[in-house]
Amino acid sequence: MSELITGIGELTTQAHSSEPGARLHDAALVIDDGRIVWIGSAAAAPAADRRTDVGGRAVLPGWVDTHTHLLFGGDRSIEFEARMAGRPYAAGGINTTVAATRAATEEQLVATAQGLRHEAEAQGTTFIETKTGYGLDLASETRSARAAARVADVVTFLGAHIVPAGLDRRDYLDLVTGPMLAAVRPYVQFIDAFCERGAFDVEETREVLMAGRAAGLGLRVHGNQLGFSGGVRLAAELGAASVDHCNYLEPADIDALAAGATIATLLPACDLSTRQPFPPARRLLDAGVTIALATNCNPGTSYTTSMPFCVATAVLQMGLTVGEAVWAATRGAARSLGLDQGPDAVGSLFVGSRADLQVLYAPSISHLAYRVGVPLTSAVWRHGVRMPSA
Ligand code: NIG
Repeated sequence: MSELITGIGELTTQAHSSEPGARLHDAALVIDDGRIVWIGSAAAAPAADRRTDVGGRAVLPGWVDTHTHLLFGGDRSIEFEARMAGRPYAAGGINTTVAATRAATEEQLVATAQGLRHEAEAQGTTFIETKTGYGLDLASETRSARAAARVADVVTFLGAHIVPAGLDRRDYLDLVTGPMLAAVRPYVQFIDAFCERGAFDVEETREVLMAGRAAGLGLRVHGNQLGFSGGVRLAAELGAASVDHCNYLEPADIDALAAGATIATLLPACDLSTRQPFPPARRLLDAGVTIALATNCNPGTSYTTSMPFCVATAVLQMGLTVGEAVWAATRGAARSLGLDQGPDAVGSLFVGSRADLQVLYAPSISHLAYRVGVPLTSAVWRHGVRMPSA
């Protein structure tokens, strides 16, 4: 059944990658069989089986959230409170969530992750990546990968999150790059490693990523979150799809990213929750680096599913324009998954694309930052189906 969405006061399609945030006015679009089949001026709109008038509101692609850790047990609110009282974030806190995750059943893990996914959808997210990384033994990582594949659109293997308490580093790396990688392989599309003090150094990260590449996985890296870890340079050298965090960058890191195709995925909610300096987003953009924005939803450093909050923070605190931030949270994010073009494209609206879109309670995307903190998601369509949660 076809559906005409008309009365669109402002339509952001992201179809032209050279013009982040370009907008059409008084527009309409038609959805059929999960895809966009027509876009144009409302006055010229064809008839359809059903008609929805959005009354002058803004329409844009659904958010593409490319960095989450949804498979976990427990929470870390005590650690969060201590951090807000001055204790610095350290990678070792991951062990707390590992213990709670191992104690949970697979159905409990799926239920938590599904709940978070629904929370995200109610705020306009239509495509979501998630990672393993809180199991960290063969059975628990495999279970997390299997559960993740039931919940998320894209799954990343993060066995190299930390060396779990009590294990020898060399033995653990052999496990991650050998039997664990083989066990999770049916469920995952990317491999990731936390390249940081307290987690893995550059050579260990390289070993993990190369094993993943040999197994046919795309590469993602947690890099330069807590210091100058070398993760950004390594990601650029290996042509990783994305390097995430990027809080501490030297000029040579920015040059390395600008010279290649690795996307810098910035995580503003995490930066606030860990009291880290924001990444130099303006310098990255001005150097020609492609950036994406994501929530990094996890119980340790960023317990939010809100892409609108990340977009607003990127505008208000990181120097992005509204158009740049919205682009980074839609098409830029899709690019970091290799999904910004072709029939499976997400994060942009064009004839033939998936009908993943959201309507705001606002006439313009500028309100996402202008009316910061106000819930603005009015309606969401995913694969052409209107989501009940929004
Ligand atoms: O992306 N940095 C590494 N991993 C997560 C946090 C993990 C945790 O502390 O639970 C992140 O911030």
